[in-house]
Amino acid sequence: MRRTLGTCYYPEHWPREMWAQDARRMAETGLTWVRIGEFAWSRLEPQPGRYEFGWLDDAIAVLGNAGLRVVLGTPTATPPRWMIGRHPDMLAVDAAGRPRKFGSRRHYCFSHEGYRQDCAAIVSRLAERYGANPHVAAWQTDNEYGCHDTTISYSDAARRAFRIWLRNRYPGAGNDGDIAALNAAWGNVFWSMEYDEFDQIDLPNLTVTEPNPSHVLAFRRFSSDQVVAFNRMQAEIIRRHSTAPIAHNYMGRITEFDHFKVGADLDIASWDSYPLGFLEDRVGAGPAHQRAFARQGDPDFQAFHHDLYRAVGRGRWWVMEQQPGPVNWAPHNPGPLPGMVRLWSWEAFAHGAEAVCYFRWRQAPFAQEQLHSGLLRPDGVDAPGMAEARQVAQEIRDAPDVAPARAAVGLVFDYDADFAWATQPHGAGLSYFGLVFDTYRALRALGLSVDILQPDCRDFAGYRLILAPGLMHMPRALGTALAAGKAQVVLGPRTGARNIDMAIPVPLPPDFPGLDATVSHVESLRADMPIPLLSGGQVVHYREHLQGDATVVEQTMDGAAVAMCQGNVTYLGAWLDQPAMRRFLARACDQAGIATMTLPDGLRVRDCGGERFWFNYGAEPVTFDGLSLAPAGVLRQTSRGQG
Ligand code: GAL
Repeated sequence: MRRTLGTCYYPEHWPREMWAQDARRMAETGLTWVRIGEFAWSRLEPQPGRYEFGWLDDAIAVLGNAGLRVVLGTPTATPPRWMIGRHPDMLAVDAAGRPRKFGSRRHYCFSHEGYRQDCAAIVSRLAERYGANPHVAAWQTDNEYGCHDTTISYSDAARRAFRIWLRNRYPGAGNDGDIAALNAAWGNVFWSMEYDEFDQIDLPNLTVTEPNPSHVLAFRRFSSDQVVAFNRMQAEIIRRHSTAPIAHNYMGRITEFDHFKVGADLDIASWDSYPLGFLEDRVGAGPAHQRAFARQGDPDFQAFHHDLYRAVGRGRWWVMEQQPGPVNWAPHNPGPLPGMVRLWSWEAFAHGAEAVCYFRWRQAPFAQEQLHSGLLRPDGVDAPGMAEARQVAQEIRDAPDVAPARAAVGLVFDYDADFAWATQPHGAGLSYFGLVFDTYRALRALGLSVDILQPDCRDFAGYRLILAPGLMHMPRALGTALAAGKAQVVLGPRTGARNIDMAIPVPLPPDFPGLDATVSHVESLRADMPIPLLSGGQVVHYREHLQGDATVVEQTMDGAAVAMCQGNVTYLGAWLDQPAMRRFLARACDQAGIATMTLPDGLRVRDCGGERFWFNYGAEPVTFDGLSLAPAGVLRQTSRGQG
């Protein structure tokens, strides 16, 4: 598969006379892909049942005739205003019970049956009309599921669907489900929360104090399944008319639905990468780090998502939207350091991306994203990002094809564990994503390339080290496969801490085959009460007290066990700060026979097939092991030399 570039274009925003020139300039820039259509419903069906496809026919023809390949988006993220008149109850409802109104986007509840039917109708029309169009070379379903907190909705439609979902989860005789089984699984005897029938079960919002965590987790799983079903409906319709691959554009740090389950119905995973936008409120780093990387973005956040979406796409993945300059939506919106647009593009290719598409072609002079840069200014003159896009286009012409490669380190990521942590974080601000990302960051600082693994992965061939931190519910089959494999395995904290219904299992966790270690009790820590470790660094946020006969391999200054090891399995009963995490993981790598490095801050490396890439995210030049990289520098080494 060749490495390719593309852009996101909105023909409906510009006079027709501009389309041909835009298309020609895209092709001249070296772009292959142009994504269109994903917000155009009000122009495709201006009145219920009155379709206007002529303009889209022409736009696709103009773009295609210029040599571009079209990614056609389904427009279901932006239902037109008349749709709300038809289905006033289709709006999502927030936790305070307020409808989320028309006037921006994503104003729909995944559970609303009438809206789903209308989505099926518009997707069918599009798929019938363009399924065999030679210029339509890929599809995108909807746009950014979950963006703007839209996965979870407390609507009447959601309540009805949740009750059906629960009946299926706790099946009984006939259609009515087994309410006694649900009561037992959730522990509803506590506080007299027992139900007599499924139709008494409400959504877990607006309760006097916290709702039962089993109830909350069930509702999160249900909400995730609604996204999966909504997406599957669209994918099935498109497939009836088209053989082109289908993608969705996922996001950074959106974990409210199971992307692996959505991805199972699609051909390509793609995601929208906004490194500077993410830095302040998604990465979770302190002010000094934010300042140091204000114009470069976090050195690990994009890489993590590249690896995550490579797993979601089962090897096939793209960046559907790449930041080309300042965005408009973060707390502050600085411009990137010269060279960063190129660096971000190459970092994606280094992780195996097939395509990187810049969002957007031309900056819009109107509406919500006026201050969001594009490759062109609103007047059509090149914006600063354009020269870098052109440079990358030139560089990928000479680069090899995308080569699949397996890393030595596998890191399990489980959306269900994220739902469980969100349900019961146990300490303010603690999250599963945060724990996994801290682990990933330490691995990257050790110079390692990482594969993210789905929790139902059983093919561990080639991995020498597999980590499963925070995997709240450990499916027995996964535990058995890990214990039986050849890889070194690192578990915890909180791995196996709950059963499938969110209760503490007995025997106590982690109850892992062949490991004599037990979590006897747990505590979360204030920011000002870290616990120093004997070998350096400290425990932060969360700590477990361990018992058992396995060998203690990490302990506090006062001699309490923090990690224990037996055979190929190590259990870590703490959240470690970065120095301790790096030291602890370097030891695990050593045991697994994996060489590590100690990279300077901001320098990162990624191995992909026969290529090794170096990236300098720092604002200063860096030298390491005989290499020198300027700020925003990229160095590509192949077995044949450097590029
Ligand atoms: C994405 C979205 C785009 C655009 C972009 C701005 O989240 O998919 O439509 O809004 O952000 O950065």
